[in-house]
Amino acid sequence: MPKITAAITGVGGYIPDYVLTNEELSRMVDTTDEWIVGHTGIHERHILKGEGLGMSEMGVQAVKQLLEKTGVSPDEVDLVICPTVTGDMIFPSTACIICDKVGIKNAFAFDINAGCSGFLYGYTIAKNFIETGMRKKVIVVAGEKMSALTDYTDRKTCPLFGDGAAAVLIEPNYDGFGMQDVTLHSDGMGRQFLYQKAGGSAYPPSEETVRNREHFIIQDGNSVYKHAVTNMSAATTTILNRNSLTSDNIDYFISHQANLRIIDSVRNRMGLEEEKVLINIHRVGNTSAASVPLCLWDFEKRFKKGDSIVIATFGAGFTWGAAYITWAY
Ligand code: UT7
Repeated sequence: MPKITAAITGVGGYIPDYVLTNEELSRMVDTTDEWIVGHTGIHERHILKGEGLGMSEMGVQAVKQLLEKTGVSPDEVDLVICPTVTGDMIFPSTACIICDKVGIKNAFAFDINAGCSGFLYGYTIAKNFIETGMRKKVIVVAGEKMSALTDYTDRKTCPLFGDGAAAVLIEPNYDGFGMQDVTLHSDGMGRQFLYQKAGGSAYPPSEETVRNREHFIIQDGNSVYKHAVTNMSAATTTILNRNSLTSDNIDYFISHQANLRIIDSVRNRMGLEEEKVLINIHRVGNTSAASVPLCLWDFEKRFKKGDSIVIATFGAGFTWGAAYITWAY
C-alpha cells in the first residue's frame, strides 16, 4: 500500500467588497494612517456589510469557488471543518450552515475554535482523517467576521482586524505531496491577554454586558505580540530542524498575518530571505483563522508542484503551531 499524505488540491477565497481604509478609521478614533502602517503594516481591511449577514455568507462564497475550480460536486465532499471564532451563531455550527447553503449533504461537519491558529488545527484534523483512509474529500473553510467583535471606539484594536474566508480541499495524495510535518500547541494562560468577556456561559449577554462593551475583543497587544514572536519562532524552529530545512530549501514561508513587525521578527530569527515570505496583511488586516488560507489563495498562482512551504500561526487561547507542506499541483 502506498503511503497516503494529505494534500491541498484547491483553494477558494472571498473578501467582502467594502474597504475600510486607515483614513476612514482616523475619522472614527484618534489614530493616523502613519501610526497604523508604522505599527502594523495594515493599509486597509475589508468589512462585510449587510443586515443579518454572518460569517457563513463569506464561507459559502469561498466553498462555491473552491468546488467550481476543482470540479468537485457537493455530493462528493465527506467532511467539512470550519475554524472560526465568529460563527453565525453560538450554535448550531457554521460548518452545518455552510453545508446546507452549498448543498453538501454527504458530509459530517463541525466548527473548531482555535483562534488565529484555526486553519492549521483544521488541516491537521483533516490530515488524520485522510491518512487513515476514513475520508477522501475534506474541506477546511476558515472564515471570520471580525468586524462583529471589533469595538470601533477602541483605537488599540479597531485598526487590526478584517473580514474574509478561504476554503481548501484536502485529498489523499499517493506521490508524497501534502502535509509532511506539523507541531501544534496551546496554553490557556493566554486567555487573560486576548478574549471576549461576555456572551458565553460564564457571562451570558445582559443589558449590563452590552453597556460595559464586554462583547468586543479585549487584547493586551504587547503581551500577545511577545508570545506570538517567541512561540511562532520556536514552533518554526522545531519544524525546520525535524525536516532538515534551511532558508535554502524552503520556497515560501507563510505566517499568520497579525502584524508586519511580528512577521519580520520571526523571519529574522529564522534567517529567511525576505522574498520567500508571503504577505497580504497590508490589504486584508488580521483575519484570524482565515489569514493563512487567504494568503494561500492570494499566492496560489505562484506555487509549483513540489514547492516547500512552511506555515506558522499564533492566536487566542493561546494556540500556536507550525507545519511543513509540499504543494501538490
Ligand atoms: O491575531 C491574534 C494575535 N494578535 C496579535 O498578534 C497582535 C499583537 N500585538 C500587536 O500587533 C501590537 O501590540 C499592536 C498593533 C496591538 C500595538 O502596537 P504597539 O507597537 O505594541 O503599540 P502599543 O500598544 O505599545 O502602544 C504605543 C502607543 C501608546 O501610546 P503611549 O501610551 O505610548 O502614549 C498607545 O496608546 O501607541 C498608542 N496607540 C495608538 N496611537 C495611535 C495605540 N493604538 C493606537 C492607534 N493610533 N491606533
